[in-house]
Amino acid sequence: MQKNAHPHRDCNGKIAVVHNGIIENYQELKKELEKDDCGFKSQTDSEVIPNLISKFYKGDLKKALIKAMKRLKGSYALGVISSDEPERLLVARSDSPLIIGLGKGENFIASDVPAILKHTKKVIYLENKQLAVIKKDRVNVFDLKGKEVSPKIDTISYDVEAAKKFGFKDFMLKEIYEQPRVVSKILSQWMSLEGNIRVRDLDLNKDFLKEIEQIVIVACGTAFHAGLVGKYIFESLVRLPVWVDFASEFRYRKPIIKKNTLLIAISQSGETADTLAAVQEAKKSKIKVISVCNVLGSSLIRESDINLNTYAGPEISVASTKAYTAQLMTLYLLALYLARLKQNLNEDKLKKAISSLEKVARGQKKILARSRDIKRIARRHLHFGAFLYLGRGINFPNALEGALKLKELSYIPAEGYAAGEMKHGPIALIDEYRAVVCIANDSPVYDKMLSNIQEGLARKGKIIAIASEGNEEIKNYVKEAIFIPKIEPLFSPLFAIIPLQLLAYYIACLKGYDVDKPRNLAKSVTVE
Ligand code: M6R
Repeated sequence: MQKNAHPHRDCNGKIAVVHNGIIENYQELKKELEKDDCGFKSQTDSEVIPNLISKFYKGDLKKALIKAMKRLKGSYALGVISSDEPERLLVARSDSPLIIGLGKGENFIASDVPAILKHTKKVIYLENKQLAVIKKDRVNVFDLKGKEVSPKIDTISYDVEAAKKFGFKDFMLKEIYEQPRVVSKILSQWMSLEGNIRVRDLDLNKDFLKEIEQIVIVACGTAFHAGLVGKYIFESLVRLPVWVDFASEFRYRKPIIKKNTLLIAISQSGETADTLAAVQEAKKSKIKVISVCNVLGSSLIRESDINLNTYAGPEISVASTKAYTAQLMTLYLLALYLARLKQNLNEDKLKKAISSLEKVARGQKKILARSRDIKRIARRHLHFGAFLYLGRGINFPNALEGALKLKELSYIPAEGYAAGEMKHGPIALIDEYRAVVCIANDSPVYDKMLSNIQEGLARKGKIIAIASEGNEEIKNYVKEAIFIPKIEPLFSPLFAIIPLQLLAYYIACLKGYDVDKPRNLAKSVTVE
């Protein structure tokens, strides 16, 4: 509805505001402002903000904004202008992210770096409860007392070129194809010339890391699925108990966190409101936080004790692809580091694991080279009204991720399940109208997956299997098989995910949807 669209103005039409966030006490403020004869036009919480500023306005917009900030509860990133002071734009933030891009004779505001990258690489990350007065040739930052503070100016290191499509039809396909390069880059950042894992921030915290007894992982969406893979990785390599939570659940559950717990927060953007709130909740228990994050300077990085950069470069497509594999790669390396530190892994096993990781980029390229076959399978299945994704063990989270990719891009109902759970309910869904994607690579649970495939076939499900190269047997069972290179099963999620991303991508493209900007979704969810 147009009347709910930003900017919102005060009832005199003089002060206009754009707002990202949620004002929790807006009902109370609205009642108070209505008593002063202030009429509201929209059904938004945001409209109280210009009216509140207007109430305090006595010829100085900055002073009025500070007074309003002291009354607002909730999260906000604000852009404020007044027709009385047209040469200044004021901004303020509390919990929602806000960056100021510094140009020549022009300045910019945004929530996230990619939005301003084509104009400037110099940015100020406004701190919580700060405000700034922006003129075309000047930016002054203040705290809530109105005292001027000198902000840190960051220079974005990634190139504007990285945010271009480079001949790909859309960003998503480009980002899927970037994955081999990203995993190689991560490996090169973590490994010393002598072949040892060396990360300065981890080395500096060795004493504490040696003592950890439990790992808690919080994240949302795709990053949550990376966290679930992380549980299998850490339990297998580090032999520590791991619990993974949706950040949105963790933050409200009053979780019981023992000392010597390590919290790992995973986020591509580093600005996801629930993940940030979960970190703040965990920090009340005085535990250390490692972030696995793709955006330097983001709020999450600033909240964390140790930051592990995922080096994926800007991810523009709303559907996360390269950030996911970058998160997985980072979790493998972190687990190997901790396993070594805690003496759970001898040199031989460590070397074997590193050599598996070194094979990932080449293997991913091989899968990408078969994308035409995956497109053909997509064409044959795009009319199915529902999909089921099944996986076991370390590939169970990939089943969830494959289903998420399909539903967010194609709007086809899709569910991911641990294949062993089929008999407990989901098998009732299978009939000739259901496509069932089964991750059945070589692994200790391969036979079990094969049984699940047979159960699906017996109920006339249309099975698409993801199997390891050289598996001739699978062709006796299924018409559609996508082959991935052989690798130690622990590392197979780095291969199995690629066909799942491509399948979702091609189905959405063939249906004519905008894959980079699926409906109803935002790249970073900076509000609850
Ligand atoms: O920036 P984050 O990694 O914290 O974002 C978390 C989710 O919002 C994100 O992964 C979302 O699920 C993607 N659209 C998935 O493709």
